[in-house]
Amino acid sequence: MGKEENAAGRPVFTAQEKEEIRQAIRRKYAGVASSAAGFFRYPVGKEGALSLGYKPGLLDQASDDLLSSFCGVGNPFAIGRIERGDLVLDIGCGAGFDVWVASRLIGENGRAFGVDLTAEMVAKAQANLASVQAANAEIRLVASEQLPFADAFFDVVISNGVINLSPDKPRLFSEINRVLKTGGRLQFADIIVEKELPAPLAASVESWSQ
Ligand SMILES: C[S@@+](CC[C@H](N)C(=O)[O-])C[C@H]1O[C@@H](n2cnc3c(N)ncnc32)[C@H](O)[C@@H]1O
Repeated sequence: MGKEENAAGRPVFTAQEKEEIRQAIRRKYAGVASSAAGFFRYPVGKEGALSLGYKPGLLDQASDDLLSSFCGVGNPFAIGRIERGDLVLDIGCGAGFDVWVASRLIGENGRAFGVDLTAEMVAKAQANLASVQAANAEIRLVASEQLPFADAFFDVVISNGVINLSPDKPRLFSEINRVLKTGGRLQFADIIVEKELPAPLAASVESWSQ
């Protein structure tokens, strides 16, 4: 896979390879939409959120369904303050936990959007937000490399454990830059690979989302 390399020495994938990666991600996260338990090598669900610094009082107010599929790797809200009235986008929102947190911070004059690649996650996030009547939140089924939003629309883009999964990171960052207002902020938590992976692992589509 990915014989061509970009300026940073990273592989450039063909359209077919990108689609294979997206399909592998969808296969995994369709399962995570039922429960994150057993899919990850780090704490997930409510225990994971607690370990990442989300406040216990906040977590006690979240439903089991909001937390059971949570598989974030950090706390994007710890990086900068979300203000009332802000327009916020969560890239790869999963079951909607961070969109729910944002919807409480922005109040009724703000709007929080979540986008995700996996239909099962989107359905769960939509049900989760409907069950708490979060009228200022909306979830869309879409790949983050092609965002269905106008230029300079958002005050803040957040993301939790997703950007590492994109097979086209330059395009994803370009889209984030496009939809952010001048002076807007990207607040994301993610995983990075510090060593070169062994060749069989690097060539495996399934390893992309391990
Ligand atoms: C590790 S989970 C994190 C979910 C959520 N942010 C959380 O903290 O629970 C990764 C999520 O990103 C989604 N995803 C992966 N690649 C994506 C892409 N290119 N565009 C949109 N969503 C993507 C997956 O479907 C999955 O729901």
